[in-house]
Amino acid sequence: MLVLGIESSCDETGVALYDTSRGLLGHAVHTQVAMHEAYGGVVPELASRDHIRRLVPLLRGVLEQSGARKEDIDGVAYTAGPGLAGALLVGASFAVALSVALGVPALPVHHLEGHLLSPLLAADPPAFPFVALLVSGGHTQLMWVTGIGDYELLGESVDDAAGEAFDKSAKLLGLGYPGGPQLSALAEQGGPSGLKLPRPMLKSGDFQFSFSGLKTAVLTQVRGRTLSARERADLAWEFQEAVTEVLAAKSVMAVRHCQLDRLVVAGGVGANRRLRQRLDADAANRGIRVHYPEVALCTDNGAMIAYCGAQRLLAGERGPRAGAFGVKPRWPLDTVRPV
Ligand code: KG4
Ligand code: ZN
Repeated sequence: MLVLGIESSCDETGVALYDTSRGLLGHAVHTQVAMHEAYGGVVPELASRDHIRRLVPLLRGVLEQSGARKEDIDGVAYTAGPGLAGALLVGASFAVALSVALGVPALPVHHLEGHLLSPLLAADPPAFPFVALLVSGGHTQLMWVTGIGDYELLGESVDDAAGEAFDKSAKLLGLGYPGGPQLSALAEQGGPSGLKLPRPMLKSGDFQFSFSGLKTAVLTQVRGRTLSARERADLAWEFQEAVTEVLAAKSVMAVRHCQLDRLVVAGGVGANRRLRQRLDADAANRGIRVHYPEVALCTDNGAMIAYCGAQRLLAGERGPRAGAFGVKPRWPLDTVRPV
């Protein structure tokens, strides 16, 4: 079965073709980073308009890459939420219109379910059950995953997501958008100094997180001062140490709590090298195996949406009636239907 995946929830347009027996045949992503950079963040209206411009050329490119024809497609999966309403509507209307034209089902997919299942696209995928750490720009969650669509929320951030804290702190450090990768690159030039930032909720005994205080701590360090290049790099280093220490410690704690031995890490912050280093070290000490998506599939992409739609199609789902669609800008992951 050949499934087309369409991702347009925020500032990346992703299109991919996944075949249930041959795997990922092709995928392409257009990132709007350069367009939003001047504004220091995503401008929703510009994002929607750009998705409109990109979808058809991306689809043509992916069909060509895959050697497939439109007529071979058995289902069209699209991100129905959560995300920016206008951006989601572009992908949803494109996907649903195409599905009607081809006479195939259109499958609404939860963006975070896409991230969560993306390590299953790897050569050596994890088996269920596992614990998933979802770390994106909008979410920081630990999920107990027993099967596709079977997700129990163990804990989440009570305020800013980890990616959001990276982005906001990067801005305070005078770095561009998106801040996560830039702050992380700056941190690589820094190291331990006299400065110690808090490790929020590290010892709270539950699986909740809080990152907004860390951003305030960074603000306190930079307000009214001109930092030297060394001080900026050391501050970035210490910030990254604080975030990754808490994420790694709580993830390992959650795997032990569920008496499992597998952890899956997904979402944009999952690309962070220091987080991977820490998780690998902490997990190895406790006999836990950590699975990551390929780095290219950590941030938003169509492949994870195609994969997720394909699993639901295989399980017999056919989506809403032909031509019907809606988007859900807010949509808690633990309310999706198990297959
Ligand atoms: O999953 P994603 O692409 O989009 C959302 O669904 O939100 O995640 C984007 C987030 C941004 O906050 C970005 O700064 C962060 O992931 N990010 C990183 C790194 N790469 C992306 N944060 C820290 N280190 C990185 N290497
Ligand atoms: Zn995402």
